[in-house]
Amino acid sequence: MKRLTVFFLALTACIALRAQFDIIPQPASISVDAKGRALPIDAHTPITELTNPKMTASEGYRITIGKQGITIEGSTDAGIFYGRQALRQVMADQPTSLPYAVIESAPRFAYRGMHLDICRHFFSKDVVKNYLDMMALHGMNTLHWHLSDDQGWRIEIKKWPRLTQVGAWRDRTVIGRNMGLYDHTMYGGFYTQKDIREIVQYAAERHITIIPEIDMPGHMVAAITAYPELGCTGGPYEVWPDWGVSEDILCAGNPRVYEFLGDVLDELMALFPSKIIHLGGDEAPKVRWKACPKCQQKMRDEHLQDEEQLQGYIVRQMEQLLSAHDRRLMGWDEIMYCDVPASSIIMNWRDWQGVEDPATRGFDVVRTPNSTLYFDHYQIPQGEWSNTLLFGGSTPLEKVYNYEPAPETLSPEERSHVLGVQANLWTEYIAYPELIEYQVLPRMAALAEVQWAEPAQKDYDRFLQRLPRLLRIYDEEGWHYCNKFNTPNEK
Ligand code: ACM
Ligand code: ZN
Repeated sequence: MKRLTVFFLALTACIALRAQFDIIPQPASISVDAKGRALPIDAHTPITELTNPKMTASEGYRITIGKQGITIEGSTDAGIFYGRQALRQVMADQPTSLPYAVIESAPRFAYRGMHLDICRHFFSKDVVKNYLDMMALHGMNTLHWHLSDDQGWRIEIKKWPRLTQVGAWRDRTVIGRNMGLYDHTMYGGFYTQKDIREIVQYAAERHITIIPEIDMPGHMVAAITAYPELGCTGGPYEVWPDWGVSEDILCAGNPRVYEFLGDVLDELMALFPSKIIHLGGDEAPKVRWKACPKCQQKMRDEHLQDEEQLQGYIVRQMEQLLSAHDRRLMGWDEIMYCDVPASSIIMNWRDWQGVEDPATRGFDVVRTPNSTLYFDHYQIPQGEWSNTLLFGGSTPLEKVYNYEPAPETLSPEERSHVLGVQANLWTEYIAYPELIEYQVLPRMAALAEVQWAEPAQKDYDRFLQRLPRLLRIYDEEGWHYCNKFNTPNEK
């Protein structure tokens, strides 16, 4: 009996010691010193960072706390960087001592993303940098940056200056949910190429790659307002003041369109070192193409059966430009139905019936399921929605936490196509930087755990116990966040 009591006391002590390393994303392993030895912590405690080529996981880290102080090891700078983020959480409680311990971790997925739409609402460089800071703290390595859409073109392209002179500005914005009333206020903004380089550099310092997206052939109203000859009807057009999907898209039968896209991609690739380039491809209605003599002629010339294949034709032309520069095409999951090269990476957003899993069709896939990882959706109970106008949909923290991107229902081969996971932040209803923070925090923490931890390690209740320390860092940073995370899942 007595021995049992001693055993339980030791176990409790051990759990209490381990609790000092309760961080997010949860490390793969934590072992604390059985003898209970501890390192005093003060401003002079040595912290050493070491590159250790013997460590196998390229983004993994090991933190060792012992007599000599604290050591952070990784086989790459990225690994060491993630070790530093983990240690930041351990230190958030300002401990006066830490048990001798070894903490090791490595991310489950190579692609750990967040998306940001700066078209529906435009945000300054500082807001984007702040977003990158939030991502870095959560061990994320990819920003998918949505740079062009119907409501605004946001990146300077030197060969096509009207894209930002005209396409970056809308005269009015719809009020509420497309209710036909407008504010009649000029709205817009864009990044110069110098701004873009600065942000790409800022991201690289945090081991984040920025994947730029130029969405085509749909979501192009801002571009065709700037250059009406690029649309099927020739316009006139208006930088779109509404939300939703416009029927006006690029004309696939006009050779100028291919010159335009080629020029844009050339400048884009010069600015973004990312190996992956996102060419959108979602929500491109074919109404105009069906009625356009140029598009119909193009289909005959290229022996294309239907308008979906015509979209595939554009995508394949662009893919050739990308692969000539050793870049890889990524697109929304609509493109998997238009005969794109097998090397394309499919971003799987339509997790609804009738849309196949790209992994089962042999494509590499990044998951951004609309039902679970659209962070423009609500995270508060449905009854409280009216307080803030947002897109709709209910995605509380627990639902994000429990998401499994590579389920057992897939074969091992299919699961190996899942490169990673990302949450999307569309900004129709997100006009202020504070709301960006509130929408992504703390759901980013739940996503980070999906991206880093193995399914067997995950436990939502334990995650909630670990969360307060991370919230302390949010407070230190002055970040806004939703604190109603015990909200039950809603249907
Ligand atoms: C999307 O949400 N239209 C990709
Ligand atoms: Zn056309």
